[in-house]
Amino acid sequence: MVNCMPKPKVYVTRDLPERGLKIIKERFDAEVWREYAPPPKKVIIEKARDVDALASLLSDKIDAEVFDAAPKLKIVTQLAVGFDNIDVPEATKRGIYVTNTPEVLTDTTADFAWALLMAVARRVAEADRYVRTGQWKVGWHPSMLQGRDVYGATIGVVGAGRIGYAVAKRATGFDMKILFYDVVPRPEIERLGAKKVDLDTLLKESDFVSIHVPLMKETHHLINAERLKLMKKTAYLINNSRGPVVDEKALYQALKEGRIAGVGLDVFEQEPTPLDNPLLTLDNVVVAPHISSASYETRSQMAEMVAENLVAFFEGRKPPNLVNPDVMKVRPLSKLF
Ligand code: GLV
Repeated sequence: MVNCMPKPKVYVTRDLPERGLKIIKERFDAEVWREYAPPPKKVIIEKARDVDALASLLSDKIDAEVFDAAPKLKIVTQLAVGFDNIDVPEATKRGIYVTNTPEVLTDTTADFAWALLMAVARRVAEADRYVRTGQWKVGWHPSMLQGRDVYGATIGVVGAGRIGYAVAKRATGFDMKILFYDVVPRPEIERLGAKKVDLDTLLKESDFVSIHVPLMKETHHLINAERLKLMKKTAYLINNSRGPVVDEKALYQALKEGRIAGVGLDVFEQEPTPLDNPLLTLDNVVVAPHISSASYETRSQMAEMVAENLVAFFEGRKPPNLVNPDVMKVRPLSKLF
């Protein structure tokens, strides 16, 4: 960025953690949506008209409608590892760069998958409700709130990328047998002793099935009614990837009919999930509002990465977390700056 040039304009769709926002405000002509709730799409479209960059969140739909309104838009920098909310092929076609925030959230997200797993297997959320609502009337009873052992059980990791690997790594500390399913070779997880199997085998043999795939056409309802039927009656499903990877109606049916033991969900087909989602009526369902990467440390690092991607790009360098490298053929940096 040359000092005498006007600063590039950035629209930031939410109040990001200060570590990243401070850099963005110093280096760019930035406008920030300050409300807690997301900006309506029409606001994003309106703001996009005049900006060089959008700093988005996973709850913002960034598609052709936004790009159509944004003749100067050059980059979308998202605070998330997932970017299924962005029409990336459309962005690439138009020469718009797209970045995400991978790696910094891997361990935090894996920790949360484990938090859900432990919570549902050992009935932590139920136990909390039990105490608070005055159901704890007798001192101690051998059958009170029995759950299932985690140590020594079999975990099936669906999608063995960075987060799936980190979940499996934690499982070694619990002396678990680890199975995994992926469509690409994953030597790192195999080095942990994990065994590659097909998805059906994984579902049939696992006591805990933990999902770590991105949302794509191929993974939409990957866990559907048929596949849920393969799971053991005593098995648990954990999903902190993306809601639509699991068919929620089929999941409810499986739980209601006692065909699986429980589920831990941080993500939903619709977010926020409506209060009348029947899953919320079941005690063996542990839920959270899409907070798997929500630690102070990680969210700060994610915001800093958003800033770093913006700074690199507007200095004419390849942004470190570019998700659509083909865009560089459509609109090389040398033509932009
Ligand atoms: C969170 O879900 C993310 O994709 O970072």
